[in-house]
Amino acid sequence: MVKVRKAVIPAAGLGTRFLPATKAMAKEMLPIVDKPTIQFIVEEAIASGIEDILIVTGKSKRSIEDHFDSNIELEEHLRQQGKNDLLDLIKQTANLNLYFVRQPYPKGLGHAVLQAKAFVGNEPFVVMLGDDIMEDEVPLTKQLIDVYDQTHASNIAVMEVPHEETSKYGIIAPERQLDDGVYNVERFVEKPKPEEAPSNLAIIGRYLLTPEIFTILENQQPGAGNEIQLTDAIDTLNKTQRVFAKRFDGKRYDVGSKIGFMEMSIEYGLKHPQISQDLKELIKDLGHRLENEE
Ligand code: G1P
Repeated sequence: MVKVRKAVIPAAGLGTRFLPATKAMAKEMLPIVDKPTIQFIVEEAIASGIEDILIVTGKSKRSIEDHFDSNIELEEHLRQQGKNDLLDLIKQTANLNLYFVRQPYPKGLGHAVLQAKAFVGNEPFVVMLGDDIMEDEVPLTKQLIDVYDQTHASNIAVMEVPHEETSKYGIIAPERQLDDGVYNVERFVEKPKPEEAPSNLAIIGRYLLTPEIFTILENQQPGAGNEIQLTDAIDTLNKTQRVFAKRFDGKRYDVGSKIGFMEMSIEYGLKHPQISQDLKELIKDLGHRLENEE
């Protein structure tokens, strides 16, 4: 049986929602407490059994490569100071099978994924978007791989969103629900207006795709927002081979939005051994203060 071994993480986006912080810095390096968001994605890939990861970068993204490299001076400094915990922490991200390629122009997600063609070759692979961080007992990428192992077909993670928000997402028109939250899909539509959306099941940034997607992407015309859309290519793929949707029932943080970023920072902080106690106190005090203000 073919094993899903490769992941592609598009990280070429300009991060305009976090300006001015992202003027000179990669948005993927913004930390949730002390860990860059992209590290959560890489950890999900590894926890799902992925062996090789390609990160598609662009301008102002050098810090991502540096983060996943060794830093010999810093390692030496920490060793001399006897800070072994920190030494272990920074070495964790230095020995992974990571590859980098640049997307020369910001022409859309479909175009970013197309840059992975040579890396992927003729294997099924996953695409993981950095703005969506997921939490569940089984990592979502592993859930998609499990569906692939049963169906040998592409499958895309979806989740219910409020109907008025459909224009922020790729939306599916489900045909019928099979077992375990897996759907046959009639259509995939990128960012439909609420009045045109065929459902409120939204694509949430984890895709398992067969390599036939690349031939389609090579000929894909620009769609919504005048960008080459992955969703449009998936809709075409679904006409010649099945593309299933897998419903995600866990917790999703949209760390590409300011409020989603804050939400995850607080939740993660509440679990963080160094700050959870202090943060709890802080939130309680803040709660009292806000109540008194009302
Ligand atoms: C992208 C995809 C969209 C998907 C979304 C999930 O949109 O194009 O289909 O629903 O990610 O986060 P973006 O958020 O990059 O505009």
